[in-house]
Amino acid sequence: MKQPFSERCDPRDALLRSNPAPAVHEKRDFRVMERSDFPPDAKRCLEHLVDAIDDALPLPKTRRRDLARSVRDLWTSLTSERSDRPADYLGMPESLSAYARYFLPWNVVRLVPLFAGPRFDLREGSTLLDLGSGPFTVPIALWIARPELRTRKLKVVCVDRVARVLEAGEAILDALSLRSTGQAISWTIETRRDVIGGRRGNRTFPPADLVTAVNVFTETFWQDRRPVREKAVDFAVELDSFRNPGGRILVVEPGEPRSGAFISAIREAFILSGSDPAAPCPHARACPVSGAFRGFDTDNAGIPVSALPPVHRPRHRVKMPWCHFVCDISAAPKRLEKFSEDVGLPKDRLTLCYLLVDPARPESEGPKHPLTPSNHLSVRMVSDAMRIPRLGTGRYACSEIGYSLVTGPAAEEASGRLVEVLTPRSIDRDEKSGAVVLTS
Ligand SMILES: C[S@@+](CC[C@H](N)C(=O)[O-])C[C@H]1O[C@@H](n2cnc3c(N)ncnc32)[C@H](O)[C@@H]1O
Repeated sequence: MKQPFSERCDPRDALLRSNPAPAVHEKRDFRVMERSDFPPDAKRCLEHLVDAIDDALPLPKTRRRDLARSVRDLWTSLTSERSDRPADYLGMPESLSAYARYFLPWNVVRLVPLFAGPRFDLREGSTLLDLGSGPFTVPIALWIARPELRTRKLKVVCVDRVARVLEAGEAILDALSLRSTGQAISWTIETRRDVIGGRRGNRTFPPADLVTAVNVFTETFWQDRRPVREKAVDFAVELDSFRNPGGRILVVEPGEPRSGAFISAIREAFILSGSDPAAPCPHARACPVSGAFRGFDTDNAGIPVSALPPVHRPRHRVKMPWCHFVCDISAAPKRLEKFSEDVGLPKDRLTLCYLLVDPARPESEGPKHPLTPSNHLSVRMVSDAMRIPRLGTGRYACSEIGYSLVTGPAAEEASGRLVEVLTPRSIDRDEKSGAVVLTS
């Protein structure tokens, strides 16, 4: 009979199988290990970004009237399943202008706190390869998030299927640098018109220290009807081929269920092929918040399951929880908020799904599953905070034990933060959600 890979022995599994604990919740300690906040001058730079977009893409008075409609049309087309949007839509002036004025700045607001976190410090001489770059959303967010990178000699290669949007992006980044620092951008910028996906292996980009693909795969979901696992493997292989041996890969997608399932699938593909996640996952076991994605293995009944060591999963429900984070939008320019309200698409909540992948491990090394249980557990805070009967404030989270519900003071820590709590002595699962209760 087939022995699923996930049944391999791991000392942690003893903890995973242990019985419910008494419903007594001791007070425990916690530590914040990682937080991502806007840097001090982000608000000012984001204001400059709004002006830089106008500098680079001036809007004739006659077209101003139509802008609101173009933004709404583009929003509908980007979020609807049966879109007849042409693949090169950003080559059309109305769409480009609408994307640059609405989607670009909000995407930058979403990315800045992420890039301000501890893992995006590119060394002097590093290469960033941004795929599906659009109007340079990633380089712009990185430039705002990490002031120390602004003077480093970085090579930034931006790839998109549409040349025009790349030209616009380069002009916006230049204008942002001029407005914010009075100086031209010091990075070496290279733009490449190319189509990623499909034709594997016949492109040559400089091997990158960081390969990024942000809001790109979401564009292919509608056209590519293959199962998510197949798409994930293809994308993982392609992204992997673009990095240098010490390079990292970042994939960011909208915080919606389909993207969450895709991110969990590509995560499993990377781990199985020898690269562990650096963030947001605090472990390299099965993903407990994988939404509709079940895994690359099958159980004895032929049901798909994860090929990675098991974790406690949420109780079954029609819409299984998927991994996504709530973004801090406190630094968003008031003008951008007002513009969004005026066009009828106000933003009071932004979410994202992401995966940062570590460099591939040497073949001699096994995956990063801890071999000895430790007293401390790294926990990534995922959901909004909520009130839970008997337990007070709680927040869903992810740990190597699996789907977790953090209660106590640590539950005040925002979505996206990494905290460390004491490992529970036994497993106490929340009846409604199936989450393992971690008391701080
Ligand atoms: C939704 S936009 C995202 C742009 C930018 N990364 C952002 O987050 O704002 C998707 C971009 O990917 C580009 N794109 C879509 N499919 C592509 C492909 N197969 N190869 C290269 N670029 C692609 C589009 O032209 C567009 O600029």
